[in-house]
Amino acid sequence: MLDLQNKVVLITGLGQTSDEGWGIGAAIATLFARQGAIIYGGNRSLASATRTQARIQNEGGICDVQETDVTSAASVQGLVDSCMARHGRIDILVNNVGRSEPGCPATMSEETWDSQMDINLKSVYLTCHAVLSIMERQETGGAVVNIASIAGLRYIGKPQVAYSATKAAIMQFTKATAVVYAGKGVRLNTVVPGLIATPYTKALATRYAPGGDEQAYMEMRDAQVPTGRMGDAWDVAHTALFLAANESRYITGQEIVVDGGITSSTGRV
Ligand SMILES: NC(=O)c1ccc[n+]([C@@H]2O[C@H](COP(=O)([O-])OP(=O)(O)OC[C@H]3O[C@@H](n4cnc5c(N)ncnc54)[C@H](OP(=O)(O)O)[C@@H]3O)[C@@H](O)[C@H]2O)c1
Repeated sequence: MLDLQNKVVLITGLGQTSDEGWGIGAAIATLFARQGAIIYGGNRSLASATRTQARIQNEGGICDVQETDVTSAASVQGLVDSCMARHGRIDILVNNVGRSEPGCPATMSEETWDSQMDINLKSVYLTCHAVLSIMERQETGGAVVNIASIAGLRYIGKPQVAYSATKAAIMQFTKATAVVYAGKGVRLNTVVPGLIATPYTKALATRYAPGGDEQAYMEMRDAQVPTGRMGDAWDVAHTALFLAANESRYITGQEIVVDGGITSSTGRV
């Protein structure tokens, strides 16, 4: 089940700044490696990427990493070229990099708006631009899994309009591209995480917790979820695995929401 034996996986944002907890990209890369995949990861900081690489290699998995800025066409092309030079194919692409900056149109600077578009949305275009034609040429095609957010489906309690807009755009980018590639053996789908406890979430708590009370901030996030707790990176990773694996071969252009029931609720549970 959900076997990825010898599949070459290109993933962005697999790094982690500490060994504590699991970021979503790190968990996806590790889970896919456990399923037999060969991981090729691009990350802004090499130090973060090598931390995940070491975790995978310590379990006997295969993982190469390369310093990559997903907002740069040249850097993304360099990542794809290196992966192709090493393995000669790319079976699965996971677009995981993403970052939220607060603000509404009146308060957000143009610079922040542009950087949100670049890191969350242009990055997905750039990797797909470089990888889709490779997948199309392969006899076994390929699968793309993009990571969005429920902020792309609804307001989730804080103004972050650029982030919301980019995450909504990822879903439609995925749908439209999936139709174009449906007859070419390439599937594209989106995982839509809700509130997930990751090292980045902890950093958000440090930044935004009222009065610096990080525990209260995390409890407030737990309380927003009908199941009573945030998800973790593995909840997202297992969904990404399903969408990357052959078992989902008839699924394309779809989203799977992983949110403990938030988007099904009125918020009064
Ligand atoms: N955490 C949540 O609650 C949540 C909820 C919904 C959706 N998501 C989405 O899930 C994804 C992963 O979230 P996460 O919380 O696991 O984030 P994370 O821990 O911050 O991991 C993101 C990784 O991306 C890397 N990165 C940042 N900018 C980059 C760039 N320009 N080029 C290449 N790599 C870059 C970071 O590298 P450095 O180590 O150099 O910083 C980091 O390793 C994002 O798309 C996010 O929007 C998260």
